[in-house]
Amino acid sequence: MAKEYQFPEGFWWGSATSATQMEGAANEGGKGKNIWDYWYETEPNRFFENIGPEQTSDFYHRYKDDIKLMSQIGHNTFRMSLSWSRLIPNGRGEVNEEAVTFYNNVIDELIANDIEPFVNLYHFDMPLNMQQEGGWESREVTDAYAEYAQICFRLFGDRVTKWFTFNEPIVPVEGGYLYDFHYPNVVDASRAAQVAYHTMIAHAKAVEAFRDCEIKDGKIGIILNLTPSYPRSQNPADLRASRIADLFFNRSFLDPAVLGEYPEELISILREHGQLPKTEAGDKELIQANTADILGVNYYQPRRVKAKEHLPNPYSPFMPDWFFDNYEMPGRKMNPYRGWEIYEKGIYDIMINLKDNYGNIESFISENGMGVQDENRFIENGEIQDDYRIEFIREHLKWLHKAIEEGCNAKGYHLWTFIDNWSWMNAYKNRYGFISMDVETKERKTKKSAYWFKKVSENNGF
Ligand code: BG6
Repeated sequence: MAKEYQFPEGFWWGSATSATQMEGAANEGGKGKNIWDYWYETEPNRFFENIGPEQTSDFYHRYKDDIKLMSQIGHNTFRMSLSWSRLIPNGRGEVNEEAVTFYNNVIDELIANDIEPFVNLYHFDMPLNMQQEGGWESREVTDAYAEYAQICFRLFGDRVTKWFTFNEPIVPVEGGYLYDFHYPNVVDASRAAQVAYHTMIAHAKAVEAFRDCEIKDGKIGIILNLTPSYPRSQNPADLRASRIADLFFNRSFLDPAVLGEYPEELISILREHGQLPKTEAGDKELIQANTADILGVNYYQPRRVKAKEHLPNPYSPFMPDWFFDNYEMPGRKMNPYRGWEIYEKGIYDIMINLKDNYGNIESFISENGMGVQDENRFIENGEIQDDYRIEFIREHLKWLHKAIEEGCNAKGYHLWTFIDNWSWMNAYKNRYGFISMDVETKERKTKKSAYWFKKVSENNGF
């Protein structure tokens, strides 16, 4: 049967997850503590239904069966992250051999099942020791991260060719230093700017280390949550609001990672408000020389903004939101469960922007997905009938396909996520997986969307 949406040969079909959200065994196998283990110990009430990161999906013990499942539902690629505190429990120094064995086993098992592993080095999970040294506020931590990165390239670079330095680096900046949803719960924009800047320095140092390792066919990049900022109207005040939101939340990482430099306007806003981070001689050149080969794009929802209705309270701390208000567009389509707008065309707009303004860098959709509460409501004949997820994926893929037809350099699509996993403060509130999981028993069940995805992957289209 002729397919309406045929994707380029070798398209990457799969899903993504992260170590803390999937592995479990947080206190096993010689793993050191990270900020999530610590935060949960000190403030369990911050987490939905008081569920913490100790067990998560138990991938640490069940990886063989899980990888088999991935293969059964059409994965040819899978993005995982390594846990820095599992591999190097103190953040720097001794390497944990049990972790090396675990990650070797996972990588080998994926390859044996014809699934190419994409490996990300950092997904929100700062080792506790490193946080106690200041986390990304500390320049020394960027060196420790670069050493960790180099160790990973040496250990696994013989089999892994797609590497990523960070997942959504803006999120720890927002969560940990502006809006109180990650540890260390600081509210301070100038510290946030320092954290963002040092993350980029750490990225550049890791890319530099990667180039030295000369991994055959190796590519290294970064995964960014690119959220288009749509203005309420074409009024210049709304356009300015959307441009500034874009500078803070997208271009703060996209420009240095891909173009090798920060946008002038962002620098001047931060300067004007006394929020510029400390830099060192040689930083500019370091960032310029170490741009990404490949870009992962996480896309869930658009950001809609309008000009500020009221002047910010002069006694409130400086925030990006001093320049815009969020705008709830009447008639927007919603995922009512997660409370996020669904706007499929966003994926196309992102890709066109990358093509027109970022050298058409090789990219892929590294996360896209739909979180839904209480999915057991939708069980029929023992299977979750998640038709809403099928529709969600299908409609996004249509726009991705259109972007590719128009010359965008998009190579794949990964769903967030393979199996319903633990999601930071939201714990198991919203379920995103192709596979459902019983939090108590850890029993896995394949959802309808997974069977649909398998066919799409087999046909390389639909
Ligand atoms: C992405 C993150 O931003 O969104 C994931 O990379 C996260 O780690 C996912 O789990 C879903 O977010 P949430 O807030 O609905 O749990």
